[in-house]
Amino acid sequence: MLDPYRVREDFPILSVKRSDGKPLIYLDNAATSLKPRSVIDSIVEYYEKYTVNVHRGVYRLSHEATRIYEDSRERIAKFIGVSPSELVFVKNTTEAINLVAYGLDWSPGDEVITTVMEHHSNLVPWQMVRDRYGVKLRFIDITSEGLLDIGKLSDLVSEKTRLISLTHVSNVLGTINPVEDIARIARRSGILLLVDAAQSVPHIPVDARRIGCDFLAFSGHKMLGPTGIGCLYVRRGVEDLLKPVFTGGEMVGRVSLDRATWSDMPLRMEPGTPNIAGAIGLAAAVDYLSNLGMDNVRSYEDRLTDYTLKRMSEIDRVSIYGPRDVRYRSGIVAFNVERLDPHDVALLLDELENIAVRSGVHCAEPLHTRLGLSGTVRVSFYVYNTLEEVDILCDTLEKVIEMLA
Ligand SMILES: Cc1ncc(COP(=O)(O)O)c(C=O)c1O
Repeated sequence: MLDPYRVREDFPILSVKRSDGKPLIYLDNAATSLKPRSVIDSIVEYYEKYTVNVHRGVYRLSHEATRIYEDSRERIAKFIGVSPSELVFVKNTTEAINLVAYGLDWSPGDEVITTVMEHHSNLVPWQMVRDRYGVKLRFIDITSEGLLDIGKLSDLVSEKTRLISLTHVSNVLGTINPVEDIARIARRSGILLLVDAAQSVPHIPVDARRIGCDFLAFSGHKMLGPTGIGCLYVRRGVEDLLKPVFTGGEMVGRVSLDRATWSDMPLRMEPGTPNIAGAIGLAAAVDYLSNLGMDNVRSYEDRLTDYTLKRMSEIDRVSIYGPRDVRYRSGIVAFNVERLDPHDVALLLDELENIAVRSGVHCAEPLHTRLGLSGTVRVSFYVYNTLEEVDILCDTLEKVIEMLA
């Protein structure tokens, strides 16, 4: 079992107190996570000891940097059960999804199926593809419990469907979508599948090959790693369907004044100098999570979520969204207090007890519109959160409700 108190010792920011002596209660992990010492050290070490470019020089230090960079790719690929040649380094999930949106060849009338619960990062690129190439968008709705209405998927699939692109875990409802079932349906009909794993890879065991998707996107900063690094998994066999969206140095084979050929995957998708420190930091984050064990991470967050759902449902005027059964949800709890603005609630939680939560539409405005809401307050957990913090959150929330009554 994961010991959060032991984990907390590894996160320097958790020992920093506010000027009034209150420690940080960080419950905005769906936005980004805190970083452990080992990740910070790995980045500092790169800059202090071997900060040279990769895949270029013949000198010893350049070989060393390239070896560590490619070893990082290998460790990250293993973490999601794929081979290093299938793992493209990108900036973040948003960039990964855009690389697929603009890398595929579209014909007018092609159809893309997505869902009403997507983060804007997995919606706006498809709207752009629609407007530019005449592609049609179709949406899977949700049930009253906040689950994907998967029974309706077969009505949406047609001969024109090229791609299904959906989130593995909703960043608002916490819903875990049945991506393996969807992959089976997609495969049967020759449809490509992109999984937005921004909220799943950090929190639940994810094996991209077992899911059976063609593309999978995630961000390093949400999984204890640095900002500016993320990954796009491209299943071997579909890489030639993707043309490189950005071109230039290092992604080429031969170049003449007239034309260029591409290098092999994954470098073909990584033009220019990559985020070397970011890749190294993300590999250190993956090592940290692997040492904890992703099954332990998942079950510990389940405990926190279950406890939060129980405690919050006892507070008057609070409505909680998303599935009640933790088997179908991850450590994200969005809620509202009747007649209170989510931003006021978040501001007071911060002011009273240094509690960081998110308020607003969390880059998922269409989902809020679908639910008839103008916003929510969102609590999201990670490995360093404790049951005591949940108690402080709920006690403070009661105080906030009293103050604003
Ligand atoms: C489900 C989901 N998809 C995509 C993103 C975008 O991630 P990034 O901002 O790292 O590109 C997020 C970020 O919150 C997310 O929650």
